[in-house]
Amino acid sequence: MTQQKKTRSSTRKKAKKHLKNNKLVNKATAKKTAVKKLVPKVAVRNSPIHGRGVFAVTAIARGARILEYTGERMTHAKADRLYGDLHDGSSHTMLFAANDKVVIDATKRGGPARWINHSCAPNCEANEEDGRVFIDAIRAIKPGQELSYDYNLVLEERHTAKQKREHPCHCGARKCRHTLLGDKR
Ligand SMILES: C[S@@+](CC[C@H](N)C(=O)[O-])C[C@H]1O[C@@H](n2cnc3c(N)ncnc32)[C@H](O)[C@@H]1O
Ligand SMILES: [Zn+2]
Repeated sequence: MTQQKKTRSSTRKKAKKHLKNNKLVNKATAKKTAVKKLVPKVAVRNSPIHGRGVFAVTAIARGARILEYTGERMTHAKADRLYGDLHDGSSHTMLFAANDKVVIDATKRGGPARWINHSCAPNCEANEEDGRVFIDAIRAIKPGQELSYDYNLVLEERHTAKQKREHPCHCGARKCRHTLLGDKR
């Protein structure tokens, strides 16, 4: 059984509304305001979770749009061709499935969002809008804290105990589920 593709499923169903200053605003307003407010508030440094990670430099308010996940945009078929074999036996991936059509590949080039690690108790979430993926704070984040979101990785094959072990999570959260894999519907 080969792993065809490793992509992160975004929480796109939650992208309809955003919390801004703790108030719900409609999608169009949130998008306009949030994209305008994309300013660097983060730094890429070594992480206790894994490799490099992304850390808040200033306080970040709950609901703030922090970064866009950028990289080369490609079809799922192309991502499978390029990485299908490479990902066999390795849990490292910089692919993000924005939706059923677009995969964002940040392997060769991409913005700082590609360094954000997974946590089972995340302070951010990834939201898809029109094929773009944004990282939004779901809690207030203090300077120095590492940013994280739930990768919720979905494999094409069954999420067996072996697959879960092969995608270990080292987030250290009290309720860590010990795998980067999410529930498979
Ligand atoms: C997009 S990279 C994130 C940046 C990564 N720390 C690095 O230095 O390359 C995603 C990869 O980082 C690793 N990773 C991220 N979060 C992790 C976690 N909570 N536990 C273990 N490995 C993690 C996995 O190998 C994952 O495929
Ligand atoms: Zn965990």
